Amino acid sequence: MKPENDRSGEIQEQNKRIREALNQIQHRIVVFSGKGGVGKTTVAVNLAYTLVKQGHAVGLLDADITGPNVPKMTGANSSPSVLGDTHHMIPQIKDGLSVISIDPLVPNDAPVIWRGPLRSGAIRQFLADVIWGKLDFLLADLPPGTGDEVLTAVQEMRPDMAIVVTTPQEVSLTDCRRAVNMAKKMEIPVIGVVENMAGLICPHCGKDIDLFGTGGGEDMARLMEVHFLGRIPLEVENRLAGDRGTPPVLHRPESRTSKAFVHITGQMKGLL
Ligand SMILES: Nc1ncnc2c1ncn2[C@@H]1O[C@H](COP(=O)(O)OP(=O)(O)OP(=O)(O)O)[C@@H](O)[C@H]1O
Ligand SMILES: [Mg+2]
Repeated sequence: MKPENDRSGEIQEQNKRIREALNQIQHRIVVFSGKGGVGKTTVAVNLAYTLVKQGHAVGLLDADITGPNVPKMTGANSSPSVLGDTHHMIPQIKDGLSVISIDPLVPNDAPVIWRGPLRSGAIRQFLADVIWGKLDFLLADLPPGTGDEVLTAVQEMRPDMAIVVTTPQEVSLTDCRRAVNMAKKMEIPVIGVVENMAGLICPHCGKDIDLFGTGGGEDMARLMEVHFLGRIPLEVENRLAGDRGTPPVLHRPESRTSKAFVHITGQMKGLL
């Protein structure tokens, strides 16, 4: 007889549903970094919308369970609808992008104090129970570092590409090298580096101010023999856009930031 807490059948069933969901998704991309606050969510959201604008079917999975920022940055802050009395969830579609996040599912400002296995369980559920449908790209916005959610997302999604975000200064690059090595260890086939906050565009005169420096990410990518996808400037408008949920690639398509995202998306597609 099986012990009462034997959930192996349930887990196998969930694995099957994850496989079925992933079979309908052509490319799976994880966005991560060694360090917090370097712009992963900004990059994930704007890459996703650049792909949508190019006519692709795209999903964005907020895999940051304790700090879910995708709803804030996209404005997709409604709860996913649940299909009848099943456990299937339908993602919210915001400006053509399918979005799923834990944020609308927990009361306002309530902390998600979950241990690793629960957080990993939430990600597995987002893959198994969300009706993503046929997608060209599924992007996952990961929390910083190399914790349980990161490992789960990579193991379950089997991504064909990792995008590692860094800022140009040495303290971020050190952590970025760790993140690149982790992506290598987890045998993610293509690894690309994005340098964010590379040069501040002065809101008064439009000139570049070398706040955190530039080029560090590119040099690091070359040394570590991974791809450099491009750099995104630091623009006050980008931060405002993040707070307002108005992604620059949708709302300021002529900005240098949006052009940088078009370049990075082109590089990314060229490698897949
Ligand atoms: N290029 C940029 N120009 C201006 N502001 C930016 C830029 N990139 C990110 N930001 C701002 O910096 C802050 C951190 O960015 P973001 O939330 O994307 O980082 P993160 O790596 O996802 O953080 P966390 O590790 O907490 O998940 C946000 O307020 C965001 O709007
Ligand atoms: Mg984030």
